[in-house]
Amino acid sequence: MKDLSPRPGDLDPIEIASRDEIAALQFHRMKRSLKHAYENSPFYRKRFIEHDVHPEELKTLADIARFPFTTKQDLRDTYPFGMFAVPRSKLVRIHGSSGTTGKPTVVGYTQSDIDHWANLIARSIRAAGGRAGDILHNAYGYGLFTGGLGAHYGAERLGCTVVPISGGMTERQVTLITDFKPDIIMVTPSYMLSILDEFRRQGVDPRQSSLSVGIFGAEPWTNAMRLEIEEAFDMHAVDIYGLSEVMGPGVAQECVETKDGLHVWEDHFYPEIIDPNTGEVLPDGELGELVFTTLTKEGLPMVRYRTRDLTRLLPGTARSVRRIEKITGRSDDMIILRGVNVFPTQIEEQILKCKGLAPHFQIELTRAGRMDNMTVHVECTPDMATDDARAKSGKELAHHIKSVVGVTTRIEIRDPQAICRSEGKARRVLDNRPKE
Ligand code: DLL
Repeated sequence: MKDLSPRPGDLDPIEIASRDEIAALQFHRMKRSLKHAYENSPFYRKRFIEHDVHPEELKTLADIARFPFTTKQDLRDTYPFGMFAVPRSKLVRIHGSSGTTGKPTVVGYTQSDIDHWANLIARSIRAAGGRAGDILHNAYGYGLFTGGLGAHYGAERLGCTVVPISGGMTERQVTLITDFKPDIIMVTPSYMLSILDEFRRQGVDPRQSSLSVGIFGAEPWTNAMRLEIEEAFDMHAVDIYGLSEVMGPGVAQECVETKDGLHVWEDHFYPEIIDPNTGEVLPDGELGELVFTTLTKEGLPMVRYRTRDLTRLLPGTARSVRRIEKITGRSDDMIILRGVNVFPTQIEEQILKCKGLAPHFQIELTRAGRMDNMTVHVECTPDMATDDARAKSGKELAHHIKSVVGVTTRIEIRDPQAICRSEGKARRVLDNRPKE
């Protein structure tokens, strides 16, 4: 794999600033942002008054804990434009969350928001090892989803040549990668696996592809999956995190030289970790729910937005801003099976340990009487022809899940290609339990 470490002079000053400098900038921006929300968003003004807090009361960064949380429900309740802090005519773009049912949650950007976003994606691509002049194959979906256009504007800002292919038409993805010879791919990790299958189906060696780095996000994925993808393509695989409510991709980015979690771009987003049950702020290092306050957003400032994503805050390494550990999962995706908390990422890790199994899987939940049962549907690799070999892999997986995760599961070994593929975020959990 290529050495893509940054060269001297590559970094923005804030990436190497001292903690004191970062905190001073954050405080200044947080105060301004709270004031902007209070003065220009009737939603926030009412919320602050109800909680008896005023932006003037922010005397230190830690005082943010006195302010109320914002949730997805607040966006739903004010659908579509009720939370904005600028007149609608000042918005240059609308995006929506990727929720599959009902109405999307709507977010809006001023020109200045779009500029900051492009700069942060440019910074993220550079942290991933990208440079001006690189060709970037962008297979994140274009549309209301923030992945496609978010990555697009940032890649242009960095000076890359963007191939705006979006998701889908997997055969053509492989053709264009082979013909245009991109250096970088941006795509969900689960769709990258479909692209990998297609390389093999076409008899093209993925290790010979031109790709030197993949920037994968929009869904949880594990370090085991990183190794799988890096080995298959002989390329670096790094993580990008974000959410539409806070901006879109580019809120945090893993650096290619360390691959040790994602640096939060703290000059624009103030992170906290809270206990999801009590709402209490937890010290750095402890696992909990990630909360963000935006520091520069005009269109839709977010005050203490509860992401539902579970992770911990860690000190900076390759950059001075703090890191988040790879996201374990969303609290909404956590399965509680006979009292044990299970995340799809834990199942992914165990699958990748088993020879003969492909990392395409889905977890099905069913109920028999009062008992919840979990079945892991997982594909075998094409060389696993015999029933014996399949049964052996199934046993091995059940054993790993029992001993590492602590739950008993049924394993269904499926034929190659049997698990439904997504062209964006994978749907990992099928809940077939009767609705109460
Ligand atoms: O998924 C933005 C994005 C696009 C991020 C492309 C990265 C790349 P939403 O559709 O609003 O926005 O979904 C946000 O996706 O709260 C997490 O649960 C999950 N998520 C996003 N990135 C990661 C990641 C985009 N790197 C929700 N690891 C978030 C784990 C992620 N989960």
